[in-house]
Amino acid sequence: MADYVHGFDPEEQLRLQAQGEILAPMVYREVDFSNCKHLLEVGSGVGAQTRILLERFPQLQITCVDSSQVQLAQARINLASFGDRVRFVEQDGCSLSLSERFDSAFVCWTLEHVSSPIQLLVRLKEHLQPGARVYVTEVFNSSLYTSPEFPHFRHYFDLMSSFQRKIGGNPDVGIALGNLLTEAGFSTCSTRFDGFYLDRRSGEKRKIFTAYWKELLKSAAPALLASGDCSLQALKLMEEDLEKIGNDQNAIFFYQFVQAKATL
Ligand SMILES: C[S@@+](CC[C@H](N)C(=O)[O-])C[C@H]1O[C@@H](n2cnc3c(N)ncnc32)[C@H](O)[C@@H]1O
Repeated sequence: MADYVHGFDPEEQLRLQAQGEILAPMVYREVDFSNCKHLLEVGSGVGAQTRILLERFPQLQITCVDSSQVQLAQARINLASFGDRVRFVEQDGCSLSLSERFDSAFVCWTLEHVSSPIQLLVRLKEHLQPGARVYVTEVFNSSLYTSPEFPHFRHYFDLMSSFQRKIGGNPDVGIALGNLLTEAGFSTCSTRFDGFYLDRRSGEKRKIFTAYWKELLKSAAPALLASGDCSLQALKLMEEDLEKIGNDQNAIFFYQFVQAKATL
């Protein structure tokens, strides 16, 4: 997969693991697979979410699907201690073809990279048993708000979102999850918003979250620089703006992602 905004280098693979832990209180706030046994995770990356799922739901067996052999190789290493509770399949989620049917599924930060999210969800649905429970978690980049304006941060963020669209993804796919899951044929679907809301009440979270955002945005830098969409100067100024947000207790930072829960 040549067109993938975050790339697959070891630094990015470590970032994904750290991201899983930092965002877990938000992502897993309402996730419940306690009555499920066989879970299908599409776009499992290096296994950051898989690890959390395996730990939180000790009865689960998970099949990890990713289109990147590099990610799967690292996931095998990261999840080796879970033995045969986890297995790995290299496939494109949009043309998923497995012999089993699962009672649950999890897709996180993956649909945003796919040119046809509906195709992936339809293929996912084909691999589920009646009544299966699914959680899909996705970005909604248009929700970003800061006060005051941090123009360099905003500029770089917009470059990243535009680049993602240019290579076939959708940085606002989160807001369409209700439509997409309904169109794919899921019988019930509820959505909730979660994410970041920093203001003067945020305390230590401010530093932790702005550091996280800096790493997230930097992860797109190699692709943005190589494509000519971004300059080194724009990268540096974005980092400086995030430092400012991290140091200004009164600065407001707001960003929401969307999590859909659906059943078949
Ligand atoms: C941002 S990472 C998220 C990984 C993991 N879900 C997590 O939260 O740590 C997105 C992953 O989706 C995978 N991916 C992108 N398009 C895919 C597709 N069409 N089918 C399967 N995996 C895909 C990428 O290889 C990458 O590992």
